[in-house]
Amino acid sequence: MKERRVIAGLVLFATVLFALVPVIRRGAELPTAQHHFVHALMLAGAALSGILFAGRTRGGRRGAVWLVIATLVPALAMLLMWPSKYAYFETHPYGHLTEHLALVVLGFLAGFGGERYAAGIGWAAGIGIFAMGMLAIGGYGVVRSVPNTIGIAAAPTSRANIGGLPNQTRGAALFAQNCAVCHGTVGVGGEGPSLKNERSRKSLVQAEAWIQNPAPPMPKLYPGTLSLRDVADVAGYVETLR
Ligand code: HEC
Repeated sequence: MKERRVIAGLVLFATVLFALVPVIRRGAELPTAQHHFVHALMLAGAALSGILFAGRTRGGRRGAVWLVIATLVPALAMLLMWPSKYAYFETHPYGHLTEHLALVVLGFLAGFGGERYAAGIGWAAGIGIFAMGMLAIGGYGVVRSVPNTIGIAAAPTSRANIGGLPNQTRGAALFAQNCAVCHGTVGVGGEGPSLKNERSRKSLVQAEAWIQNPAPPMPKLYPGTLSLRDVADVAGYVETLR
């Protein structure tokens, strides 16, 4: 009994550590499929700890409310992996972390609630919620969204080489390192012109082209200091300045 609780606690602890990954690995986003695998593992770990915490209860004497919870949470988990939020989560590690922690809570509730209702139901709910995470890997309900503020549709073929959307969190860090001396910390301007509202002057594609081949006195940092990926990310960041 006691040992089971300890194991349950350890499993939960490991799962929460796992959920912290987006904040620890700031900016280094996994491909979508792998990312959903991480979600599935988190759901499974959380459900397992829920099952272990709940312990065995014969006959469902603790009330149908647990069954309701166990069957509703997988649907909520699916909503949390809603594709339209991807672009947001990629640029907001803490929002992403919140999503992960919510998934952990839902996984836990699936296992705990099911097992509280009747022995075995927790396993069914846990497997169900894990399967939901795995389905997301296969692309079920998962399409990368495009933020409508940025003209991705007009992106050049070179973008295919780097893949994915500009990561604005990385872009902000690159900007602070390479551009802020001239353009000011948040693009307010200095030696270089203000980049506020640059979006109205240059599209993402044009900003990338400019950074790759600027006119003097702006230094040409690509391909020496900045990689193609860096250019895309920093341009993505510049496009967000207002
Ligand atoms: C040494 C100073 C300097 C640095 C460093 C620098 N810039 Fe510039 N930047 C300039 C100047 C000066 C101009 C204006 C050049 C012109 O219009 O002929 C400019 C222009 C631009 C423009 C075009 C603005 C417009 O007119 O639409 C963009 C975009 C831009 N810079 C982005 C960046 C980014 C991103 C970085 C970092 C990777 C960077 N710059 C680094 C000095 C700098």
